[in-house]
Amino acid sequence: MQTLLSVSGLSKRFARGAPPVIENVNFSVDEGEIFALLGPSGCGKTTTLRIIGGFERPDEGRIVLNGSELSGPGRHVAAEKRGIGIVFQDYALFPHLSVTQNVAFGVRRVSRSERLRRVDDVLRVVGLSGYGARRPGELSGGQQQRVAIARTLAPNPPLVLLDEPFSNLDALLRQATRQEIRAVLKRAGMTAVLVTHDQEEALSFADRVAVMRGGHIEQVGTPEQVYHRPRTLFVAQFLGRTNLFLSDAEGEVAITPIGRVRLNRRASGSVLLALRPEHLTIESPGTIGTGPCGKIIRREFKGHDITFLIHVSGTEVLVHTDNRMPFVPGDRVHVRALEPAVVLESEAMVRQAEADDAALPGESEAAGADETGAEAAGAETTGAPGAEAAPERADDPEARVARTLHP
Ligand SMILES: Nc1ncnc2c1ncn2[C@@H]1O[C@H](COP(=O)(O)OP(=O)(O)OP(=O)(O)O)[C@@H](O)[C@H]1O
Ligand SMILES: [Mg+2]
Repeated sequence: MQTLLSVSGLSKRFARGAPPVIENVNFSVDEGEIFALLGPSGCGKTTTLRIIGGFERPDEGRIVLNGSELSGPGRHVAAEKRGIGIVFQDYALFPHLSVTQNVAFGVRRVSRSERLRRVDDVLRVVGLSGYGARRPGELSGGQQQRVAIARTLAPNPPLVLLDEPFSNLDALLRQATRQEIRAVLKRAGMTAVLVTHDQEEALSFADRVAVMRGGHIEQVGTPEQVYHRPRTLFVAQFLGRTNLFLSDAEGEVAITPIGRVRLNRRASGSVLLALRPEHLTIESPGTIGTGPCGKIIRREFKGHDITFLIHVSGTEVLVHTDNRMPFVPGDRVHVRALEPAVVLESEAMVRQAEADDAALPGESEAAGADETGAEAAGAETTGAPGAEAAPERADDPEARVARTLHP
């Protein structure tokens, strides 16, 4: 696949002496790819998008689109000259113009008939043929968002940027709309960068996800990679519930409170392991024999699955099973890992790798502690070495349990 957008070494401070809002951000997006920037509030997603769009100038770094430099040392192509399509959270439709007029707005320098043909085409693509005469006020939220997308697609931009485009929609409509919009972008072969703080949205919408935190990218990968093989504690916790075990590793195994587990990579000495609840299962005592026996202290039937809370080896472990698992509270069970445990990189290792990558002499000031409420709220929930700032759900007891570290 051909790289369409390349972002390298991007840094930005809004005030002299202030900590950078983004620092050494690097990623590239292939032609036809949908890429998501995912992270908690205030981590620098919108700032990154605005720099790509040309609405902000970076202090350092380069933006290259289709081989031409848009931002770089001594170079800044104006936003309106970039031809990049942008979809905002609030749609920003003209209320007094019809759907057709709204969509036609960005299509310039073509004949009237060509313009109307493009409008017809994109309205068909977003499933709104026949709605051209309506005003935005006569449409549902989801339909308005589709008009906004149609307006962005109509000039056939090389790249579309979407900043939290679904956050104004209620949960059901959001899910349906994002599926439709994803299909629309894929049908049109568009390349897109989505900004969101919603994990499920990023995982379901994007081909690849960059997880951001405090102004830098912590991991880039396919949804499966970042979910199943998080690099860091932050990524593991930001993408969903996870059990954490501080254990001793020897080669490809480690001894944990649930017994010996396989590791996703070789390691030795003290390691922090992550195992998602659905990567565990429970079995009757004696069936496997090797692991310690635990006791079910809670069972939560949720329809399509069950969450068990198991007390084992002096610690509590969350296990998600299918909805037929017969055990009930009080039962004694083994907990067995269905997947290798993920060896997380320590904060120090990540920082070192970043410092090695950065190649920015004299730039030693790291992005400071996150100023976001979401991160601050989670800050006291783990005591892991180098572990900080669980992103969300600090008040959720299950999440707290899942974050408990096991000596
Ligand atoms: N124009 C500005 N001047 C000063 N500080 C700014 C400006 N724009 C953004 N910031 C700060 O930069 C940080 C990152 O902001 P940004 O809007 O990029 O975050 P975000 O990841 O998009 O967050 P959210 O999910 O809440 O939209 C925040 O601390 C914000 O207050
Ligand atoms: Mg934002």
